[in-house]
Amino acid sequence: MRDATPQTIYLKDYKVPEFLIDKTNLVFDLNEDYCRVSSSLAIRRNPASQSSSASLFLHGGKDLDLQCIEVDDCPLNDDQYQRTEDGLIINHVPDNAVINIEVLIKPHLNTTMMGLYKSRTMYCTQCEAEGFRNITFYLDRPDVMSEFTTKLIADKHQFPVLLSNGNPLDQGELDNGRHFVTWHDPFKKPAYLFALVAGDLSVVEDSFTTCTNREILLQIFVESKDLNKCDHAMLSLKKSMRWDEQTYGREYDLDRFMIVAVDDFNMGAMENKGLNIFNTSAVLANPKTTTDAAFQRVEGIVAHEYFHNWSGNRVTCRDWFQLSLKEGFTVYRDSQFSADMNSSVVKRIEDVSYLRTYQFAEDAGPMSHPVQPDAYMEINNFYTLTVYEKGAEVVGMIHSLLGDAKFRQGSDLYFSRHDGQAVTIEEFVSAMEEVSGLDLKQFRRWYKQSGTPVVNVQSSYDAEAKTYSLNFNQSCPTTSGQSHKKPFFIPIKLGLVDANGQDLPLNSQGDQSIVFSLYSNSQTLVFENIQQPPVPSLLRGFSAPIKLDYNYTSDELAHLMAHDSDGFNRWDAGQKLSLLVLNRLIDDAKAKRELVMDQQLITVFGELLKDHSLDPAMVNLMLQLPSEAQLHEQAETIYVDAIHGAREFARQSIATALQEQLVATYKRLTDNQDYAPEAQQIGRRSLRNCVLGYLMQVETVGPELAWQQFNDASNMTDKAAALSALVNCQAADSYAVKALHAFEQDYADETLAMNLWLQIQATSKLNNGLERVKDLMGHPAFSINNPNKARSLLGAFCSANPVNFHHQDGSGYGFLQQQIIALNALNPQVAARLVTPLTRWKKLPEPNRQLMRDALQQISNHKGLVKDIQEIVTKSL
Ligand code: TRP
Ligand code: ZN
Repeated sequence: MRDATPQTIYLKDYKVPEFLIDKTNLVFDLNEDYCRVSSSLAIRRNPASQSSSASLFLHGGKDLDLQCIEVDDCPLNDDQYQRTEDGLIINHVPDNAVINIEVLIKPHLNTTMMGLYKSRTMYCTQCEAEGFRNITFYLDRPDVMSEFTTKLIADKHQFPVLLSNGNPLDQGELDNGRHFVTWHDPFKKPAYLFALVAGDLSVVEDSFTTCTNREILLQIFVESKDLNKCDHAMLSLKKSMRWDEQTYGREYDLDRFMIVAVDDFNMGAMENKGLNIFNTSAVLANPKTTTDAAFQRVEGIVAHEYFHNWSGNRVTCRDWFQLSLKEGFTVYRDSQFSADMNSSVVKRIEDVSYLRTYQFAEDAGPMSHPVQPDAYMEINNFYTLTVYEKGAEVVGMIHSLLGDAKFRQGSDLYFSRHDGQAVTIEEFVSAMEEVSGLDLKQFRRWYKQSGTPVVNVQSSYDAEAKTYSLNFNQSCPTTSGQSHKKPFFIPIKLGLVDANGQDLPLNSQGDQSIVFSLYSNSQTLVFENIQQPPVPSLLRGFSAPIKLDYNYTSDELAHLMAHDSDGFNRWDAGQKLSLLVLNRLIDDAKAKRELVMDQQLITVFGELLKDHSLDPAMVNLMLQLPSEAQLHEQAETIYVDAIHGAREFARQSIATALQEQLVATYKRLTDNQDYAPEAQQIGRRSLRNCVLGYLMQVETVGPELAWQQFNDASNMTDKAAALSALVNCQAADSYAVKALHAFEQDYADETLAMNLWLQIQATSKLNNGLERVKDLMGHPAFSINNPNKARSLLGAFCSANPVNFHHQDGSGYGFLQQQIIALNALNPQVAARLVTPLTRWKKLPEPNRQLMRDALQQISNHKGLVKDIQEIVTKSL
């Protein structure tokens, strides 16, 4: 049945819970085709509640098969409680009581991957945000924190490993080949941080000595075939633990820290207290099967989940509107960590291009919402780029406003003051305000107002007075539900670059970079004693998540590219220059005029290739033209073919003109060092593979080179790059067929590598993409039930293969519509995320626009649509 018209939940309606649960005792009796869950809840009326007689409400899903319920050992009759749509109400509960509940659930039939479910041969849980209510009746809200004791009972042969949060208390043998383990977690936590795992798992162990000399047991549990892929995650974990002690003064609290890898998982990983559960794609890594990008993703996610132990677990969220309190802050922390472990400017550029491409698009689309949303229908739809990535930018701005010392004082105060509590974003900002003495009143609008602010800057030079003025004007486009915006407080880091490429002193202290505070709609900044008009370097380091608009000439951009002292802005100047060139080409392509390549861009790229003193990682980033997705974001109307054609033309022209330097660079970067996933090597490989990509445009060189690289590659980074180059090149067709086949033979047993194989084919821009995807759906490596596979093939095709997905006959849209309906019944979370490309229909020209809208309408008409999809479709139509 269709979910009833979903209700909207509002932040303004927040009320404290009527009851608290001091202790939670759970017994899981795992059997072949059901699990018996017995719970014993020591509840107490909340002294902070207004009412002294309210009934007890417990959340609980429709599939809970209630066996019995007792209050203080007295079983309740059917008329002493009522089951509702989403739970159960018990009237006349004493102020202090013990509630005993027994339910039966069917984890083996649970395809949603929320609650207790089966991944291959093991049982595992995912409770965030509201999965615990599918396990048993409970006060499933993050401001109800309890001390958990959990006993697991299962067949010893099939499930030798039984895990839950905290420390093992007891274990033993039972009749019929069964055994049990009891776990106790001394830290109070909300139900969303509960976890259990039962399976036949192998373990990699290590240990970590904390700053106070406590010895922590570290364990990574995997299927035995994956034992050779745990080293990188273990190393990343130890680095994260040390870093959090040194940078934030945070020590680990339990005696052990466990990670379990599971193949079927809706997201990257989950920070359950003491028992993190990871998607295999976010923890397993090995040079033979894993790319550099995936190695770095593992390091980042291991750190992210570990850091949640403080920013999320010890101090948690009061309600789900506060999600960015833990996610924005933790993303900020993991990005600082990755910056410290690798190259900080490279990390910054990667993060910003991700934000600009995907978060900006989200903020301009129908699902736009503030970092702290004020309403939602389905909370799972709000684990977004805005809450995570923009939320992290907002924390980053607080850091730069306060400076290192005050920011650390603020985080110390926040952690100590709220340890063991469930709090709001307001508490975080207040702590920062208190230690710094700053007034962050206006700054708080970053949490409440959605949309990407636009700052327009105009300069003027007065040759007589020797003054240089910058005039700033801010505005923010209307976003869903928010038509009127108040001005933001925007920190704009800037410098002035003279004709020789030197930074000018900007004040009497001689600072070469200052942070200008833009707080009203229009402000002017005047510099004195400026002998010649400089080139302004604006928004250095991307000091605020905005669009900055300044009318640069291409000469000015080339100047900044060569000389800006800010690495981020050197890159950004290159992006802006490329955008100028590409936007002209796109206009010409739309008007069917002949395309003519800009020579300046070629010259500048040529210089980058010639200068061996530059960091290869930076050269790679600077040679990357803005992606098609980025071009879509900044376009008013998305002309998919014109954008693709213009970008390909530019790549072709660059490759042809710079063929010699490209080949020389490729050779220069060819070496036979032992593989290590460290910044320097990664940078060299990234540039070499970037160069290979360009050379594919030269028929006489590229295909041969890529085929050779495919065969010689000693690591997955080079292998996958070569494969991708081949399958995107018409002239390399026969090599591509052979390479795909060889890959399939070599990695048939490597699930994650085969997912990459699917993804590379799904994103091939050559014709007939949809046919290839449909064929691959029949391949044994594909299964719609596995989220990683659904994302690798279906998700990648629909969101990262625009020329094929947006085919003018609408076939891509019809296909996506079918897949969403298929997934609707299986996995609402995966299905809901797949809808995203269709929600952008307003930005496409006809006929696509109407075709996309029709597909959305058809989805909306489907009977039995889950609320996750209903919310997105309703808001998008
Ligand atoms: N809290 C997790 C993180 O970001 C992510 C998460 C939220 C999640 N909901 C989930 C993971 C559902 C898997 C399934 O660290
Ligand atoms: Zn997180």
